[in-house]
Amino acid sequence: MSKVALVSGGALGIGRASSLQLAKDGFDLVICDWNQEAGLATTDDCRKLGVQADFIEADMSKEADVIKFVAFAKEKYDQIDFYLNNQGVIHQAKLFHEITEEDADYVINTNIKGCFFGIKHVVKEMLKQEEGHIVVLGSSSGIKSETGFGVYSATKKAALGLAQDAAIEYAKKNIRVNTICPGGIVTPLTQMVGQQMIADQFIPPRAPDILLNEGALGDVSDIAQLVSFLASEASRYMTGAVISVDGGITL
Ligand SMILES: NC(=O)c1ccc[n+]([C@@H]2O[C@H](COP(=O)([O-])OP(=O)(O)OC[C@H]3O[C@@H](n4cnc5c(N)ncnc54)[C@H](O)[C@@H]3O)[C@@H](O)[C@H]2O)c1
Repeated sequence: MSKVALVSGGALGIGRASSLQLAKDGFDLVICDWNQEAGLATTDDCRKLGVQADFIEADMSKEADVIKFVAFAKEKYDQIDFYLNNQGVIHQAKLFHEITEEDADYVINTNIKGCFFGIKHVVKEMLKQEEGHIVVLGSSSGIKSETGFGVYSATKKAALGLAQDAAIEYAKKNIRVNTICPGGIVTPLTQMVGQQMIADQFIPPRAPDILLNEGALGDVSDIAQLVSFLASEASRYMTGAVISVDGGITL
């Protein structure tokens, strides 16, 4: 029987590339996103790789939506082997004192509450099946603060905290939780931020320093290949790990 993977925020960017990689690896998929059009397109592309794939429209910052997403997977497969908690948003690049309440709510709701709800409801099912693996998308800015993104950086530190707390609480229940911390990967998110910084002529007080790749950004496949490894049996002795894929930004 095929293994089953859930991906939140699977429509675009790292979530889309990881969904396609998991489909290539033979996982049946349940993908959620608040972008229905792109989510359906990614789900279709996964099906073309020969696996089952479903799309659920959901806003991960709303607990009722997360419950609906997880319940669909449970109902259809009665098993969740792997969960990629991937959704994330960023506020505009600005100095700390310019960040608004709306900016803060936006990133806190999706990046902290969404991550908490995702882990919480998937863990509930994994406890019943007495096994499972959750991988959370943190960020290089959750390790080394990124100037211009003060509240975003804080939400990614929080995501790391949630993942590690869950890793400790559920290790003896055979549920593992690991964190990938990307930095500087070409996606709609980084493209949008780059364009905004140019338009606003925003110069960060400390610019990120990519040591590899002649300073160029990485590719979504750099993350998707790690997801593939983590979703495999080869990662069985890993929990609570924080894995950087950032071209050396955090050094
Ligand atoms: N790209 C990078 O360089 C980078 C660096 C560090 C961390 N990350 C993290 O990796 C993850 C993926 O980032 P990305 O660059 O692929 O972003 P992206 O914007 O390209 O894709 C994010 C996806 O998540 C979805 N999404 C966002 N909020 C949602 C919500 N509340 N509910 C449902 N879906 C939601 C979006 O619609 C989109 O499909 C994020 O958690 C991000 O913080 C990315």
